[in-house]
Amino acid sequence: MGKIVPTLLLLVHGALVWSYDLRAESTPPFPVADGGSWTAGFAKAKALIAKMIYLEFKVNITTGYTGNCVGFTGEVPRLNVTAVCLQDGPDGVRPARRVSQFPAGITTAATWNRDLMAARGAALGQEFHDKGINVASAHLHRLGPVTGGPLGRSPFGGRNWEGFSPDSYLNGVASYLTVKNAQEQGVITCAKHYIGYEQARTGADRWSETFRDPYNLTEVYSVFPPLVQTPISSNFDDKTAHEVYMWPFAEAVRAGTGAIMCSYNEINQTHSCSDDATLNGLLKTELAFQGAVISDWGGTWDTESSALGGLDISMPGTGFNIPGSPVFGLFGAFFGAELVALVENGTVSEARLDDMVLRTLAPILQHQDPSTYPLPTIDVNDLNKPTNNVRRDHYTLIRDIGEEALTLVKNTGGLPLPNPASMQSLAVIGEDASASPYGATSCGDTGTACQIENNGTMTMGGGSGWAYPPYTIDPLAAINAFVRADGPDINAHLENWDLAAAALQASRSETALVFINAYAQEGADRHNLTSFSNGDALVKAVAAVNNNTIVILHIPGPVIVEDWIDLENVTAVLIAHLPGQESGHSLVPVLWGQKSPSGKLPFTVAKDVSDWPPNNIVSDPVLAPQANFTEKLLIDYKWFDAKNITPRWEFGFGLSYTTFKFGELGLVKSFKADNTSVQHTAEPFAKVGDSGSSMYDVLYTASVRVTNTGKVQGAEVAQLYISFPTSEDEPPNLLRGFDKLDLAPGQSGTATFDLTRKDLSVWNVVDQRWEIPQGTFTLSAGASSRDLRAVSTHTFA
Ligand SMILES: *[C@@H]1O[C@H](CO)[C@@H](O)[C@H](O)[C@H]1NC(C)=O
Ligand SMILES: *[C@@H]1O[C@H](CO)[C@@H](O)[C@H](O)[C@H]1NC(C)=O
Ligand SMILES: *[C@@H]1O[C@H](CO)[C@@H](O)[C@H](O)[C@H]1NC(C)=O
Ligand SMILES: *[C@@H]1O[C@H](CO)[C@@H](O)[C@H](O)[C@H]1NC(C)=O
Ligand SMILES: *[C@@H]1O[C@H](CO)[C@@H](O)[C@H](O)[C@H]1NC(C)=O
Ligand SMILES: *[C@@H]1O[C@H](CO)[C@@H](O)[C@H](O)[C@H]1NC(C)=O
Ligand SMILES: *[C@@H]1O[C@H](CO)[C@@H](O)[C@H](O)[C@H]1NC(C)=O
Ligand SMILES: *[C@@H]1O[C@H](CO)[C@@H](O)[C@H](O)[C@H]1NC(C)=O
Ligand SMILES: *[C@@H]1O[C@H](CO)[C@@H](O)[C@H](O)[C@H]1NC(C)=O
Ligand SMILES: *[C@@H]1O[C@H](CO)[C@@H](O)[C@H](O)[C@H]1NC(C)=O
Ligand SMILES: *[C@@H]1O[C@H](CO)[C@@H](O)[C@H](O)[C@H]1NC(C)=O
Repeated sequence: MGKIVPTLLLLVHGALVWSYDLRAESTPPFPVADGGSWTAGFAKAKALIAKMIYLEFKVNITTGYTGNCVGFTGEVPRLNVTAVCLQDGPDGVRPARRVSQFPAGITTAATWNRDLMAARGAALGQEFHDKGINVASAHLHRLGPVTGGPLGRSPFGGRNWEGFSPDSYLNGVASYLTVKNAQEQGVITCAKHYIGYEQARTGADRWSETFRDPYNLTEVYSVFPPLVQTPISSNFDDKTAHEVYMWPFAEAVRAGTGAIMCSYNEINQTHSCSDDATLNGLLKTELAFQGAVISDWGGTWDTESSALGGLDISMPGTGFNIPGSPVFGLFGAFFGAELVALVENGTVSEARLDDMVLRTLAPILQHQDPSTYPLPTIDVNDLNKPTNNVRRDHYTLIRDIGEEALTLVKNTGGLPLPNPASMQSLAVIGEDASASPYGATSCGDTGTACQIENNGTMTMGGGSGWAYPPYTIDPLAAINAFVRADGPDINAHLENWDLAAAALQASRSETALVFINAYAQEGADRHNLTSFSNGDALVKAVAAVNNNTIVILHIPGPVIVEDWIDLENVTAVLIAHLPGQESGHSLVPVLWGQKSPSGKLPFTVAKDVSDWPPNNIVSDPVLAPQANFTEKLLIDYKWFDAKNITPRWEFGFGLSYTTFKFGELGLVKSFKADNTSVQHTAEPFAKVGDSGSSMYDVLYTASVRVTNTGKVQGAEVAQLYISFPTSEDEPPNLLRGFDKLDLAPGQSGTATFDLTRKDLSVWNVVDQRWEIPQGTFTLSAGASSRDLRAVSTHTFA
């Protein structure tokens, strides 16, 4: 804790916001303002707090309990305040049945389609809402859109697929749309994991998230006694914090997220959930976040430093009492009675405690009417109890996202397949093409029982980002249904190890589809970037005997494909990402050309593991492991561009069945006052003589004409990249806009890119503010980060 250094009082959109000198240590900016949109919720919450005459009432709101949900806060029966229910996760309600398994975040990003991102947020929000979480006054679900942590600093990160993209801008757009549209359904989102949570593991073995928590998890890889080794410390500088890792969280905050989850890692050797600098400073003061910070389960290490450092709700608080675990439960017991004592003796002020309660209740009371919000129907202790079906017709959206995410990365003529009536035979090869012999729901409530071979097609990664699929449409099922009248005979071989048998089926077929995959999950980082279950050998065995071999990959991020990618008989490669329950239905229309593929890679695929920045996963078995983010701003394509490394496929890349021509790049000054921020941030910036008061005012609009010059309908994602003046220490190119246009043959459309003040700014670490630099900017529009077709130069400052 440091001294309060109030520098000025700002009037931001009519709301009083305290501003502090961020270079000094900060302190909680309480009382919080209403951020511009939670006025009613704040008033109701304040009235309730005034009635909380005992500290125990207030403390109960901040402390986790167990129950039918993944987490509950305490209740205040005397005031009719019932418990707040918190529940996973980013790809569906978990653990729960009778819900949808949506496409993963990374899959959604691969569509580059704002409407689909928004629709997915809304549909997820509906399912959480309809599962109803009890309480008179409070419903809060831990619907965690993974908005920037992990971002994907390392391609090995076990949880990257839960989030959207390692590009902060693309991730930010998806985060904003997910939060905004989910919360419009009444559910409160919890954006996670704040901040710098870029590798799952910290211990000796990469395949284990060892020591991510402070307690003895009886992990087989443990090399130190419990409570001795600290979680990994992510050490990153101020500019990197602002321009890379905070960016998507700023989008979640201005979209109005009611909660943010602090992460397991340390930041600069301080536990994230007690880090004054990033919680009270960056999040609550600079981003003016008005909601509650909730600890990830086990992310709290003690009560005092967390309460003072900016944590508002400790989860699971009183702990999970699982048999055989230490006295306080698996995750220890923090807040509760200890917080009462700390407030009683003045170590934590009552104003801070009020602030915690206010931040928790205000967004809930703003968004939820206790008299109409549905009652909870889930019970995490008995998942097979009858419960309501909340899926509606979300399967159509799930299918559409899977379809638009399909990213065609090689095509020498293999796709689209010809008219089915003209085909004699089609081989469908690989375990990943088929249903699991054990059934689609045998994977457990984290999916982790299905990580090896023979578990059927891969629709999702594992851990708390998994959701039970109600069913799975595997690729073979959808293909069989499609060909049944006049299509080809199907020669299937549905395992990966008997290469001779696979080759026999392929050799009998005109065309062969080979399905391979790779798995990733929470609790681990990827061991390698190789396809699983003999996948590379399977592709080679098929391609040796079939001159029209088409490879489909279900993957959580990059895989190395160099073993077979240049084989002449491999005539097309389609990346299908992690599509959720409608996998096969998403695929068939694109295989047969009813739809042109229009996905673009939301990450870079390299030719070799060593092409990525070094040391991006730290595996030193030491007591205090350190991850120094020495590559700073240069993650994913920004590293490859800066170091002149040619990737296999660059960020933003994806082919189509048609072709597109780009016209000239236009730019007009077009001031539009920020009307997209639901909550207003207090990010400081330099005024350069223009009007406007928000980082999110639109200052310019760029545009480029795109024409479909091919023979079939198709959608192109026009992408805008910016190069800052060379005086700035910035990556060569940064994504700053995208627009997806669906065009008929011969048709033209105009892609437009609104550029906000923030889009044109860099973080000045000396002046501690965003600034539009002086000098010449280059704007480029094109079809990928390395296929830039229209270029122009400008000055802005
Ligand atoms: C705190 O919440 C717990 C769990 O819901 C409840 O049993 C207890 O009565 C509450 N305490 C107070 C003081 O209201
Ligand atoms: C709690 O609810 C009951 C029943 O609706 C009501 O009689 C009582 O006045 C309420 N108490 C408070 C403090 O609001
Ligand atoms: C963790 O706890 C288990 C069960 O109490 C014990 O057998 C094991 O030795 C402990 N592990 C470590 C690393 O202390
Ligand atoms: C980490 O510490 C360095 C050195 O004090 C500081 O410049 C930087 O802003 C800190 N990073 C974060 C995310 O707080
Ligand atoms: C305040 O209470 C806490 C918790 O009981 C205790 O650890 C701490 O020493 C006390 N501090 C003072 C200044 O009394
Ligand atoms: C996944 O496949 C492995 C290997 O065949 C098998 O042992 C395991 O039982 C399968 N798990 C499920 C849940 O299907
Ligand atoms: C890659 O890692 C997975 C998971 O640990 C393992 O099963 C597989 O054998 C590894 N592949 C290679 C080629 O090392
Ligand atoms: C390509 O496939 C044909 C069978 O259609 C096979 O004869 C040929 O050897 C294959 N080429 C290579 C390089 O494996
Ligand atoms: C592929 O093989 C088939 C016969 O198996 C042959 O008719 C066809 O011409 C071959 N295609 C190419 C591109 O070599
Ligand atoms: C991280 O950076 C610190 C400070 O520069 C340095 O002392 C330490 O050795 C570095 N650790 C690793 C693992 O590179
Ligand atoms: C924001 O303003 C623009 C015009 O500047 C308008 O087209 C748009 O509909 C407005 N959006 C909202 C959410 O009000």
